[in-house]
Amino acid sequence: MNHSPQTRWEATEAHRGYGPHFEALRTSGADIEGEARLADVLAPRNARILDAGSGMGRIGAALQIRGHRVVGVDLDADLIVQSKATYPDLPVVQGRLDLITPADLEAAGEPAPFDIIVCVGNVMVLLAPDTEQTVLVRLHDLLAPDGRLLVGFHTQGGPPNSRRYSPAEFADDAASAGLVIESRFATYDLQPFDPDGDYVVNILRRS
Ligand SMILES: C[S@@+](CC[C@H](N)C(=O)[O-])C[C@H]1O[C@@H](n2cnc3c(N)ncnc32)[C@H](O)[C@@H]1O
Repeated sequence: MNHSPQTRWEATEAHRGYGPHFEALRTSGADIEGEARLADVLAPRNARILDAGSGMGRIGAALQIRGHRVVGVDLDADLIVQSKATYPDLPVVQGRLDLITPADLEAAGEPAPFDIIVCVGNVMVLLAPDTEQTVLVRLHDLLAPDGRLLVGFHTQGGPPNSRRYSPAEFADDAASAGLVIESRFATYDLQPFDPDGDYVVNILRRS
């Protein structure tokens, strides 16, 4: 059996507030779809989309509403229960991003490749230490040849137990994984990238 190291997400209870927080935002009618709107702009119509680290499902569900065929992958059993209760039509596969393969998704009835992969909401800074490059290779292998990958995270000052991840270090890891950064921004509504800012939104392709 493959061994997978513990993620920063699993290593702290401090993340337990994430699910209730987004449920409260959802029921209040707050906007929780900014990341999905950008992914929709990048996507062809009726695209095949993977939400990598889908959490409580808000992004995948917002992309489904926009006509895309979406599947989420997440390791957190409690969040998958929440996702299925909140968005029953959103398929979610329980899996680890440092291990997931096209064969795993095929076996789950959700075959690759994907036109768009979204990996947003600080997933990248909550992976297991030293698995960032591995995860990027896994995502590369699930992406269609002309597909695009949307990755956004806090470079500093992120959620509890998250790592600092500079845009330059991410760019190096992406290049090692066979990905090239096509463009980057500070926000999902495309404010200009700020090297001294605390958030980066990257749009990548296979190199
Ligand atoms: C802050 S939540 C964000 C969830 C969602 N992307 C959003 O923005 O609402 C981070 C998510 O990453 C997931 N995660 C972290 N490392 C993971 C890994 N190696 N494999 C699968 N999921 C992972 C956690 O389970 C959690 O659901």
